[in-house]
Amino acid sequence: MKFSTKAVHAGQSPDPSTGAVMTPVFLTSTYVQEGLGKNKGYEYSRVSNPTRTALEKNIAALENADEGMAFASGMAAEDAIFRLLNPGDHVIVTNDVYGGTYRIGKLVLENYGLQFDFVDTTVIDNIVKAYRPNTKMIFVETPTNPTMKITDLKAIAKFAKERKILSVVDNTFATPYLQRPLDIGIDVVIHSVTKYLNGHSDMLGGFVGTSNKKVIERLRFLQKATGGIMSPFDAWLCLRGTKTLAVRMRQHCESAMQIAEWLDAQKKVLKVNYPGLKHHPQHELAGKQMSGFGGMISFELGSLANAKKFLKAVRICALAESLGGVETLISHPATMTHASVPKADRIKNGVTDGLVRISVGIEDVEDIIDDLKQALAKIS
Ligand SMILES: Cc1ncc(COP(=O)(O)O)c(C=O)c1O
Repeated sequence: MKFSTKAVHAGQSPDPSTGAVMTPVFLTSTYVQEGLGKNKGYEYSRVSNPTRTALEKNIAALENADEGMAFASGMAAEDAIFRLLNPGDHVIVTNDVYGGTYRIGKLVLENYGLQFDFVDTTVIDNIVKAYRPNTKMIFVETPTNPTMKITDLKAIAKFAKERKILSVVDNTFATPYLQRPLDIGIDVVIHSVTKYLNGHSDMLGGFVGTSNKKVIERLRFLQKATGGIMSPFDAWLCLRGTKTLAVRMRQHCESAMQIAEWLDAQKKVLKVNYPGLKHHPQHELAGKQMSGFGGMISFELGSLANAKKFLKAVRICALAESLGGVETLISHPATMTHASVPKADRIKNGVTDGLVRISVGIEDVEDIIDDLKQALAKIS
């Protein structure tokens, strides 16, 4: 089956009791048992729930993973991934990751004995230098949030395989429509489902997909033991979202390309980060490992004062955290998504006070550009 057909059908079949075409929301905490140890595959909804199962199978099919697990949020998914490790283990992470990934590593899990090193994973030499005898995992985000850097996934898979460590890719920005890390040899893929997979900014969720049997077994145990699962209603909302993932992503990509080119031509915009632009440092690599350049752009306005004025002036673009919805969202990473990252590290990674991030929605692109134009006119 091809991608869009899987997006609409994988994991779902008409309800056998009623013929309902859409998977019902199974609002139940428990399931009647025919006898001791005899059930229909479901015992208790922390362990599994039919609506959640449908979504897990659906996204797993899109990522070409043998199995998937749906969590309450992207961070709950990341928490489960890092719990695969033991105290004393070391993780190499992309330096320009979502701020929450930095926060859970440095400010939470280092207190429990894990060690995290954040390095520029676009240069493989940096990863080789960061490797220690106790390194057990490499966690890469590509494209990165918010500076849109691209890491070579083939090189990461090779590095991890040679050292027998687990490779994990946060595929939130690209989505499986544009990039499928497991096909390239990566062990585990994770998502903030909250973003493009759901696509409508009306739920929170996380996903982990893998074909590594040992990892699946341990993650299922961790889900049951710690309970950070996705609710049936959120799973149902997301099932609606994934059905239109391909058509939404095509529009996000097309509009983002036009907006990036327009921004690039504006004198008041000092720099545009978008992998689709020829001057992006990893433009060629992005073209090889992704089938499109995505809907996320960040751009430099030179100062906090300019960013503030610009963000106050936008009308159609909504000033808000998050991304990946049908509506255009605009944000200020330094004070919003990346506020947990120490200032010196943040600036070194390109997350300056003048950087603005835009998640391009599926509105008419002319209206988005007009909005950006009138907001840009307000700054000096
Ligand atoms: C790339 C990336 N990964 C993970 C997360 C965390 O996901 P959630 O907000 O669903 O917990 C986010 C949230 O913005 C993100 O952008």
